[in-house]
Amino acid sequence: MSEAREVLETSEAQIAVHWKEEEYVYPPATFIAQANMTDPGIYERFSLERFPECFKEYADLLDWDQYWHTTLDTSDAPCWKWFVGGKLNASYNCVDRHLAKGKNKAALIFVPEPEDEPHRVVTYQDLYVQVNEVAALLQDYAGLKAGDRVTIHMPMVPELPVTMLACARLGVIHSVVFAGFSGRACGERIADSGSRVLISMDGYYRNGTLLDHKVKADEALQVAAQEGQAVEKVLVWRRFRGQYVSQAPMREGRDAFMDELLPKYRGQRVAPVSMPAEAPLFLMYTSGTTGRPKGCQHSTGGYLAYVTATAKYVLDIHPEDVYWCMADIGWITGHSYIVYGPLALGTASVLYEGVPTYPDAGRPWRIAEQLGVDIFHTAPTSIRMLRKAGPEEPKKYNYRFKLMVTVGEPIEPDVWRWYHEVVGKGQAVIVDTWWQTETGGFLCSTMPALHPMKPGSAGPAMPGIHPVIYDEEGQEIPPGAGKAGNICIRNPWPGAFQTIWGDRERYVSTYYAKYCKNKDSKDWRDWPYFTGDGAFQAADGYYRILGRVDDVINVAGHRLGTKELESAALTVEEVAEAAVVPVVDELKGRAPDMYVSLKPGYAPSKAIEEKVIQAIETIIGKIARPKHVYIVPDMPKTRSGKIMRRVLAAISNTMDVGDVTTLANPEVVEEVRRMVQGERAVATQEGPEDIRRFGEER
Ligand code: PRX
Repeated sequence: MSEAREVLETSEAQIAVHWKEEEYVYPPATFIAQANMTDPGIYERFSLERFPECFKEYADLLDWDQYWHTTLDTSDAPCWKWFVGGKLNASYNCVDRHLAKGKNKAALIFVPEPEDEPHRVVTYQDLYVQVNEVAALLQDYAGLKAGDRVTIHMPMVPELPVTMLACARLGVIHSVVFAGFSGRACGERIADSGSRVLISMDGYYRNGTLLDHKVKADEALQVAAQEGQAVEKVLVWRRFRGQYVSQAPMREGRDAFMDELLPKYRGQRVAPVSMPAEAPLFLMYTSGTTGRPKGCQHSTGGYLAYVTATAKYVLDIHPEDVYWCMADIGWITGHSYIVYGPLALGTASVLYEGVPTYPDAGRPWRIAEQLGVDIFHTAPTSIRMLRKAGPEEPKKYNYRFKLMVTVGEPIEPDVWRWYHEVVGKGQAVIVDTWWQTETGGFLCSTMPALHPMKPGSAGPAMPGIHPVIYDEEGQEIPPGAGKAGNICIRNPWPGAFQTIWGDRERYVSTYYAKYCKNKDSKDWRDWPYFTGDGAFQAADGYYRILGRVDDVINVAGHRLGTKELESAALTVEEVAEAAVVPVVDELKGRAPDMYVSLKPGYAPSKAIEEKVIQAIETIIGKIARPKHVYIVPDMPKTRSGKIMRRVLAAISNTMDVGDVTTLANPEVVEEVRRMVQGERAVATQEGPEDIRRFGEER
């Protein structure tokens, strides 16, 4: 790749950047000709001088029952209120308003995991009928009303968005918990949100197995009860109508099957409740491994306006598209960019039940071919996994993507190029969208018809988002400085979460305290939003994200971005995945330990280990030389596919690996542990704070 480079002179407050600049890749003319956003003037219209009124342009994409009188109310800083005085309903905007022109159009296309089970199309008319009937049930049977919270613990089936939209119709605040989470995690979230009702499902397919899901509901209720929250009703959807696939008993008087209750509500219609713009639409918990989970509270008007506009301009969604986001609805990506954004735009959103590599690595491309998917949205971890399992697979299928999305972690330029050339067949535009659960929608990305792409860089900030990079002392790091720092956003925006549910103090201390200029101020200029990510800005204004600042490895006083090291390891031909963790080193304080897995057809060897070390020394420098390179059969991963660096760090440092039962592949942990520590029993030691916090899932 690049010639050896010296470590830049950086202080403890800064992070050195060793990455070389990548070449631009330009969007094809055919894409530009049909794009929703081709006016470069949008950045001028959303300049800081025009803030906050500029965001009217986004809000105008929605149907309002009543217009707002105040665009941004800062009187309760830093809890910002958008479009105050305005009223609207999210379910009306995602469903009813499309009926006049598109009731017969697909809203959701459900693809079951078993390949012989046909896909199911839910039209906008179907969605309207189902959302109304479920809303009637929630209102009359479960006694739910505006402002109540409901926990929804459901897999990727169309009944999930139906249930969310039914809540939204009533102004009920939904809290969707990722189905892969344990009953305990669900129970903690039920308690934190104060939900009286849990909506669950009996089972679903994952990796060829029909999983029992209802058992988790029982555990969840126990945990919630221990935390003082009683749940009165458990509503259970069934994967197959009239057939119960769970072993868990139904508790008389508490549990009920949705398919048995629903016929009583046939034909019922519920008028959408006109909600204040700043009323909470949902809670989304970020999954910390330590401390209580944080319930990010998102608003109705600001959130919906922001995700609708960004889905339209960045994802380039038109009503005619077939759009497939492979994320799970249990994460923010699914909320914003499977459900609310795409449906507000009246498009067809594909929901896939299972894992992308089931039964083989060709599955996503067969789905794309069969449904005519033209916008494809996924994460680097899936891209790496699909490349590892079937590098040539996409070529066998006849699909055509106009746009592809990557989200969730920095993408290595090498992986980006495979995505572009092989998956996108060199024709699709890629948007690398950087954002967070807390931010509701995208913060940085290229505008696909306006900017060239740069592999590995998210791109410029979104219109109306004004980032600033601070070092630890609060000094601004200018573009092109070759140094990274803490990326913050100078101004509020409508998609931002409103607070942490029930814990305003934690909201302020986590996200606003660090660089606040005056904590009594009601002026938004005094309250930069702290993202917790490290980033640097190139001279051309593009942002490149290094990952969580907590994940930085401090080697002999040099703060190394983990992503850079992993990126370097991935330039080695044989390497499929790489994860780096800090290991205690007597001399340097911390040293990097590198874990890699190989592409199929390669066997572990000393030579490959050597190549990885060589690559890191050449690309980053000798300072970053890994203490060990471990070639592992697979990485321990969460159910959403993120590599569990926390677990690897614990293994490297002979610390307790903690609870790994919720991982996608818990058996790998023991295998890797044995490989690193040998057969001896695990010596559990506390370990230093930075290593304990390293790689914390959020
Ligand atoms: O570190 C950033 C990384 O994921 C974090 C947010 O995670 P979560 O709240 O789970 O939301 C994921 C979906 C938005 C960020 O703080 N991240 C997200 N997108 C990118 C990214 N890092 C680099 N590039 C991205 N495109």
